[in-house]
Amino acid sequence: MRIAVCPGSFDPITLGHLNVIERAGVMFDRVIVALAVNASKSVLLPPDQRRALVASAVSGMGQVEVAVVPGLLVEFCRQVGATAVVKGLRSGADLDAELPMALMNRHLSGIETVFIPADPAVTHISSSMVKDIARHGGPVDDLVPAGVGQAVRAAVLAARPHDH
Ligand code: PNS
Repeated sequence: MRIAVCPGSFDPITLGHLNVIERAGVMFDRVIVALAVNASKSVLLPPDQRRALVASAVSGMGQVEVAVVPGLLVEFCRQVGATAVVKGLRSGADLDAELPMALMNRHLSGIETVFIPADPAVTHISSSMVKDIARHGGPVDDLVPAGVGQAVRAAVLAARPHDH
């Protein structure tokens, strides 16, 4: 059984993430979306909500599941017997960020990373831009899976500092 781990912060999950997860499902028997919980990274959505939004987005995909990963990704990969880490690449900047992690993960555990070129239809989407657009009251529903836009809007409103 070939198992792919698709890691990320998913703050929030976007249609770009979903495309990579779907395509990993074509190449692997089982796909585990690994929601990394990194205390040093500031996030908009709490882990439980990010997990629920990912789970809802992948609910129609039979061989895809979600796990919250509080520790090292390679340790999780070892525990589940992963064959590879799968990540999407939108640009050279993504590669610059991803390559050191891929090489370090291989150094730590021997696990290989498989990069999938992002679908041009979703290459412009990023979680940080979704949050920024939502903070400014712009439309995000066509950038994210169903229900995610509403959750982001609510979180942005709740986090908004009071105007003086
Ligand atoms: O969606 P992101 O934030 O670009 O994903 C980065 C992520 C979650 C893949 C990376 O930060 C990660 O793997 N974190 C888990 C902790 C870990 O293993 N760190 C060492 C990576 S070399």
